Amino acid sequence: MPRFLPILLILSGLLIMAPVHAAGGPVDDLLKEYQRDGAGEFSPEDGHRLWRAEGEEGRSCASCHTDDLTAAGKHVRTGKPIESLAPSHNPERLTKRREITKWLYRNCKWTLGRACTAQEKGDFLSYIRTQ
Ligand code: HEC
Repeated sequence: MPRFLPILLILSGLLIMAPVHAAGGPVDDLLKEYQRDGAGEFSPEDGHRLWRAEGEEGRSCASCHTDDLTAAGKHVRTGKPIESLAPSHNPERLTKRREITKWLYRNCKWTLGRACTAQEKGDFLSYIRTQ
């Protein structure tokens, strides 16, 4: 057996595994895109502050998701339960790019009455992912 064969096998193993790891990172991709759109460094603290901040109508992200992301939330209007947003409690969270962008858009509109800026979206995701 040629000596380089084990190395070759390890390298090809790494290549096969690489996309699996990358698939866990739609948030990393989005954060990069938000920075390309002009956002600066992201801050989980700012994200948390914004999470609790009330818009003109007295609405905040916590209205439905509560201030404890590890807990289950409840839709403030329909009363429907919302599963925990914290990836530590709910491994499905922040794994699907389409879910993330769709709900960020809708929820920003509903809560703040406008779309969130790239900076705000990045701060939110930085906060949520640490929960
Ligand atoms: C009126 C209730 C409501 C408010 C207020 C609200 N959300 Fe949500 N949010 C939902 C619902 C409903 C879903 C989708 C159901 C689910 O995923 O459990 C959701 C899903 C999400 C998701 C998708 C996560 C994933 O990967 O599955 C994110 C991110 C999110 N919300 C962030 C926010 C942020 C940030 C705010 C504040 C700007 C906010 N939400 C305010 C109801 C709300």
